[in-house]
Amino acid sequence: MYDAGKIITGLILFLVLFTAPIWVNLASGTSAKRPDIKLPIEEKECVAATAYMKASHMDLIYEWRELVVREELRAYHSPAGKEYEMSLTKTCLSCHSNKAEFCDRCHNYVAVSPYCWDCHTEPKEGL
Ligand code: HEC
Ligand code: HEC
Ligand code: HEC
Repeated sequence: MYDAGKIITGLILFLVLFTAPIWVNLASGTSAKRPDIKLPIEEKECVAATAYMKASHMDLIYEWRELVVREELRAYHSPAGKEYEMSLTKTCLSCHSNKAEFCDRCHNYVAVSPYCWDCHTEPKEGL
C-alpha cells in the first residue's frame, strides 16, 4: 500500500530543499554570483544615488574629467546637495579606499580593466 500523505510530504520536502538556494537568494536580495565588494564603512552615501552609481558611474567619471580638463571646473554638486571635488583619486578613492576589493573586484568579475591607473594614483592599500 502506498501512503499518499508520506509521498506528498516527501515531494514537498524535496522541492523545498532542491530550490533552497533560490529562496535564500531571494530572501537576502542578492544573487549567488554577485561579486563580494567592500563598501565604505564610515560613509553612508555615494556622490549620487546608488542605483545610478551602479549603472552609470563611468559616465559620471567621464563627465567629471571633461569638466575638469576642458572647463577647469572642480566642484561637483551632488543631487543630495553636497559639494565634492571632481577627482578620481581624491574623491572616489577617498571613500572607496579599498580599491582592490571594490573597483577591481567588480571590474575583474565583469572583465573590464580601466587604464586610468597608468596616470592616476591609487591608494597603496585598502584601509
Ligand atoms: C562620500 C563617500 C563616497 C564618495 C566620495 C564616493 N562614494 Fe561611491 N559609494 C559610497 C557609499 C557609502 C556607497 C554605498 C551606498 C549604498 O549602499 O547605498 C557607494 C556606492 C557606490 C557604487 C555602487 C556599489 C554597489 O553597491 O554596487 C559605485 C559603483 C560607486 N559607489 C562608485 C563611486 C565612484 C566612481 C565615485 C567617484 C565618482 C564614488 N563612488 C564616490 C561612498 C562614496
Ligand atoms: C558593482 C560593480 C562595479 C564597481 C563596484 C565599480 N565598477 Fe566601474 N564598471 C563596472 C562595469 C560593469 C563597467 C563596464 C561598463 C561597460 O562596459 O559599459 C565599469 C566601467 C568603469 C569605467 C570605464 C571603463 C572603460 O573601459 O570604459 C571606469 C572608469 C570605472 N568603471 C571606474 C570605477 C571606479 C573608479 C570604481 C571604484 C571607485 C568602480 N568603477 C567600481 C562595474 C563596477
Ligand atoms: C595619460 C595619462 C592619463 C590617463 C591614462 C587618464 N588620465 Fe585622467 N587625467 C590626466 C591628467 C593629466 C588630468 C588633469 C589633472 C588635473 O588637472 O588635476 C586628468 C584628470 C582627470 C579627472 C579630473 C581630475 C582628477 O583629479 O581626477 C578625472 C575624473 C579623470 N582624469 C578621469 C580619468 C579616467 C576615468 C581615466 C581612465 C578611463 C583616466 N582619467 C585616465 C591624465 C590621465
